[in-house]
Amino acid sequence: MLHLLPLSTLLLVTQILASPLSHATSKPLPLLIWHGLGDNYAADGLHSVGDLAKATNPGTYVYYIRLDEDADSDRTATFLGNVSAQIDQVCHDISTHPMLSRAPGLNALGFSQGGQFLRGLVERCGDMVPMQTLVTFGSQHNGIAKYQVCNDDDWLCKGYIALLKANTWGSWVQSHLVPAQYFKETNDSTGEPAAAYLESSAFLADINNERELKNPSYAERLARLHHFVMYVFEDDQTVIPKESGWFAYTNASDGSVTGLREREIYKEDWIGLRALDEKGGLHFKTTEGGHMTLSDEVLTEVFETWFGAKSGQWSGVESEKQEIIEL
Ligand SMILES: *[C@@H]1O[C@H](CO)[C@@H](O)[C@H](O)[C@H]1NC(C)=O
Ligand SMILES: *[C@@H]1O[C@H](CO)[C@@H](O)[C@H](O)[C@H]1NC(C)=O
Ligand SMILES: *[C@@H]1O[C@H](CO)[C@@H](O)[C@H](O)[C@H]1NC(C)=O
Repeated sequence: MLHLLPLSTLLLVTQILASPLSHATSKPLPLLIWHGLGDNYAADGLHSVGDLAKATNPGTYVYYIRLDEDADSDRTATFLGNVSAQIDQVCHDISTHPMLSRAPGLNALGFSQGGQFLRGLVERCGDMVPMQTLVTFGSQHNGIAKYQVCNDDDWLCKGYIALLKANTWGSWVQSHLVPAQYFKETNDSTGEPAAAYLESSAFLADINNERELKNPSYAERLARLHHFVMYVFEDDQTVIPKESGWFAYTNASDGSVTGLREREIYKEDWIGLRALDEKGGLHFKTTEGGHMTLSDEVLTEVFETWFGAKSGQWSGVESEKQEIIEL
């Protein structure tokens, strides 16, 4: 697949002097950012979001989640890989990171698929990543019912999507092609998940605790968040259905939407969302525009409301230096 070949080799080098501060100054909690499909952790756009977070809440340490230090390989990992293994790796990276592992709490911002992966991280990694507030934009918490539409001349995209469509529930596709792992098929006459999805979904059916056998730790860990803020883009045409960003179910036959609070996952509290809601920690938000239309105003509001020093503080570690080098 051509678009997955390296264009140039960029490396983000992070150097940390992990000695505790001699004098106690309070800093906001570190912020993790997980980018979406086709993006990479060293991308300018992503760093401008991180810079805005630092400008809004001075002293914030921002960590851009990556599956590979090489930016092109990190981008490839948004298309190709075993999502569960990726989450294990991120769990390990964060819990052994010289700065992040010392913080008493962490906040996180997830874009598109990065949002449900961060939620998976909270559920799977638990105490090793003491997440306090999670904000997701245009994520696919209840999966996608359709794969993305490629541009007319984008044959590589078309080939990739054709491969996804041909064998979504096959074990090779479920362990190698990322979007298949959050694809969800529902029988629209009953509203029930399709048997093939429950049987074969390698990621979503598990983290949503949709199978007979539930993992109670998932619910405990998610309910422990202070806040979970879910943004849906009003005119999102990429995520189908866009209401997935709020864990809602959309009937593909008539377009009717069943909100989270009307669904079993909430009523029986399979993953802790009801407990979180009852303590005032679950937030449903809308923002203008299509998929990933992010304005500085909306981001600044998010940073001020959820990631400021009032939502948690720590003394930090001495210094940190990041630079992007071109090889
Ligand atoms: C995907 O990764 C998980 C976690 O490392 C592992 O348990 C699972 O066996 C992997 N799946 C496949 C098909 O390799
Ligand atoms: C959906 O459920 C109905 C009622 O159980 C069943 O008759 C139908 O075959 C199902 N459709 C599919 C595509 O599985
Ligand atoms: C979905 O919409 C169709 C068409 O209106 C309807 O027959 C069906 O009962 C709906 N399914 C659910 C689960 O509400």
